[in-house]
Amino acid sequence: MTGRLHEAVSWPVRTARLTLRPAVADDLAATWEYRRLPEVSRWLARAPARSEEYGEHFLDPDTLARTVVVELQGAVIGDLMLRVEDAWAQAEVADRARGTQAELGWVLHPEHAGHGYATEAVRALIDLAFDDLGLRRVTAGCFAANEPSWRLMERVSMRRETVTVRESLHRSGEWLDGMGYALLADERRSTDAAGPAPGT
Ligand SMILES: CC(C)(COP(=O)(O)OP(=O)(O)OC[C@H]1O[C@@H](n2cnc3c(N)ncnc32)[C@H](O)[C@@H]1OP(=O)(O)O)[C@@H](O)C(=O)NCCC(=O)NCCS
Repeated sequence: MTGRLHEAVSWPVRTARLTLRPAVADDLAATWEYRRLPEVSRWLARAPARSEEYGEHFLDPDTLARTVVVELQGAVIGDLMLRVEDAWAQAEVADRARGTQAELGWVLHPEHAGHGYATEAVRALIDLAFDDLGLRRVTAGCFAANEPSWRLMERVSMRRETVTVRESLHRSGEWLDGMGYALLADERRSTDAAGPAPGT
C-alpha cells in the first residue's frame, strides 16, 4: 500500500551524498541490522527481540507507507518516518486542519554516525514535507536524554516547543522527561533566506 508520502514525491530524492526512496518489504533485513542494536533501540518506541517480530511491524502497509530509507552508495544506512497528521482544531474548522502537518522520525546505523548524514537526510525530508506534500508544520519528539536526536532537530532549525517532566515511561521502568520540536513552513523559508548561521 502506498500513501500520500510515496505518491506525492518524485522519487528517488538525491542529496549531496545520499539517496532517499520509499521503503519496500525487501528493506527488512537491512533496517533490522541496525534497529536490533541496543544502542539504537534504546530510544525507539519498539525493541523487538527477533527479526520476525520486527517484521510484523515493518511490513505493516501503514508502516511502509510512512517510511523512507536512506542510502549511501547503494547501501541502506538509515530510515526516516513521515507520518501525516491532522492539526488540532476547533470543530467548526476541523476539515481545514486535516492532514496539514507531519511527525518526523529518524534512525541511522551507528556505523555511519557523526558525518552529518542524518542531518542531510532530515533536511531533505523537511523540504519534501513542505514543497512536495504542501504541509504547514512538521514536528518531532524525543526523550530529553536522547541528546543526539534533539541536537539533530536543532541542526535542521526545528524549534524546541515543549519540555515535559517525567511524562514518558521508558522500558527501563523509569519515567523520563521529553522534548517536542516543530518547524513551520514559513519559518523554514525565513531560515533559508537568512542563510546558515556562522560556524554551521
Ligand atoms: C539521532 C541520530 C540519527 C543522530 O545521528 P548523528 O550521527 O548524531 O547525526 P548526523 O548524522 O547528522 O551527524 C551529526 C554529527 O556529525 C558531525 N558532522 C560531521 N560532518 C557533518 C556535516 N557535513 N553536517 C552536519 N554534521 C556533521 C556533527 O558535528 C555531529 O556531531 P556532534 O553531535 O558530535 O556535534 C542517531 O543518534 C540515531 O540513529 N540514534 C538512535 C535512534 C534514535 O534515537 N532515533 C530518534 C528517536 S527520537
